[in-house]
Amino acid sequence: MGQERRPTADSRPLQEQEQEPGARGQGVGEERSALESGTWNLTPLPAVGGRRAVIQAELAWHEQEAHRRYSLDELLYDPPAFDAVVGPAIDFLAAAPGERVLDMGCGEGKETYALAERGLTVISTDLSHVQLARARERVRDALPDARAHFVQANAEELPFAAGAFRVIYGKAILHHLDLNLAAAEVDRLLTQGGRATFAEPLARHPIIVLGRRLTPRLRTRDERPFGLADMDRFAGRFAQRETDAHFLLAPLAYFLRLLPGGEALFRRAHERLAQLDGRLFAQFDALRAFAWYGVVRLRK
Ligand SMILES: C[S@@+](CC[C@H](N)C(=O)[O-])C[C@H]1O[C@@H](n2cnc3c(N)ncnc32)[C@H](O)[C@@H]1O
Repeated sequence: MGQERRPTADSRPLQEQEQEPGARGQGVGEERSALESGTWNLTPLPAVGGRRAVIQAELAWHEQEAHRRYSLDELLYDPPAFDAVVGPAIDFLAAAPGERVLDMGCGEGKETYALAERGLTVISTDLSHVQLARARERVRDALPDARAHFVQANAEELPFAAGAFRVIYGKAILHHLDLNLAAAEVDRLLTQGGRATFAEPLARHPIIVLGRRLTPRLRTRDERPFGLADMDRFAGRFAQRETDAHFLLAPLAYFLRLLPGGEALFRRAHERLAQLDGRLFAQFDALRAFAWYGVVRLRK
């Protein structure tokens, strides 16, 4: 599918993946101008044998269909809806200004923006060059001095050397991946003592389950929301890991966001309900299985 695309106005069809950090095993210490402007590979991306068809289908969907989701994603994820998830996750990474962070599966770059805003040097990767182009635009428009680089790559087989990152960030990416491959890749890329955090949608929140059933065309064929057990399985190989759950009642507040002029009300209701959710999860552990999002924090 990737071969059929025409490059968009602000993407550059580079066929020099081998000379770029696209070459597996190469470090990302020397950042290059081609990386800054985006490295798009229009040939099929490297993928482990049995995963090739899945990766190409994911790529095709995100290149051609993802625009259907843009307004839903704005409704669900526009700030401050996820501030209580994203902010603490970035804090956990404890990255110093200028330090390199991998944003795995950056999509439209909402978190690339949040990471760059903290002064980090962000290496953002995604399968889709349409998504990467949007991410680059988002960051360049609002943070012209940001150090952000955009690389089209498969998260199950990233084109960076072992130990290239001390910190790795991801949101809503693992549930698109083969968990064993993804865990092995995060492990390979992290330095000893390095940290990674991922926030992923879970499978059993009743409103979200209903929403998913009503809108099957807004999702890819192979993505699969997580169970808490998947989080534990993914985290199993790391020396230290913690998980927590977010959003039980808070999703009710989105109905207010749909109303004309309802944004202020949404913000107040969402914040209070999210705080209440935190207390409920602390008191009733079993409720965590019905959270909308789970977060995992890892140390190698
Ligand atoms: C639900 S979006 C999340 C994007 C972003 N992290 C966010 O939270 O806004 C999932 C993204 O993962 C990307 N993706 C799916 N499979 C991938 C893979 N194997 N390697 C890299 N990116 C992938 C998609 O192109 C899409 O942009």
